[in-house]
Amino acid sequence: MLLFRAQPPSSWLPKVLANLPGVLVDHAHLERKAATSALNLEKYRDLFGRVDELNAIAIEELQHFQMVLGLLRRRGVPFGPPISSPWISGMMGAIRRGKQCQVIDHLIAAALIEGRSCEKFQWLAEALKDRDPELSAFYGGLVESEGNHYATYLLMARGIDPEETERRLDAFLDLDAQWVVQEHPHAILH
Ligand SMILES: [Fe+2]
Ligand SMILES: [Fe+2]
Repeated sequence: MLLFRAQPPSSWLPKVLANLPGVLVDHAHLERKAATSALNLEKYRDLFGRVDELNAIAIEELQHFQMVLGLLRRRGVPFGPPISSPWISGMMGAIRRGKQCQVIDHLIAAALIEGRSCEKFQWLAEALKDRDPELSAFYGGLVESEGNHYATYLLMARGIDPEETERRLDAFLDLDAQWVVQEHPHAILH
């Protein structure tokens, strides 16, 4: 289902596993931003008819946010500030301004962020199986939901303009491949 053309550096997983408390704080912000992102898509005329679906995604992301906050509390990890992700900034920065192209680009960028989360949550569920079964089950439980968000956003874009969606998806997948291979000094999800 996922179309990615490159993989994160091999240092990504060990770095994340070595700093799970920090990664959980980053994850909390990721879910908060995902909820905001779903609501922001409601500003486009082409998506006025999809406002209920977008609200449902925003509610789901807020529930994920609450779940991560619950994990933080149970583990005695204080909620902290977000760390900016060059990969997310790169994807969001590639959204062109102006009527129709903006909604397609915004949906594709949001879809790829969901897709990468889906993929990484799957890896984390696998890697944490023995060492942290609670966290492993938590990540495993999010995979389907993030995968659905990825598919829903792509279908929304295709519903507006299928040809333009394929053209821009191609460009965004190239951009993703350029950015995703880069090392990040902090242990963050994206
Ligand atoms: Fe989520
Ligand atoms: Fe999501």
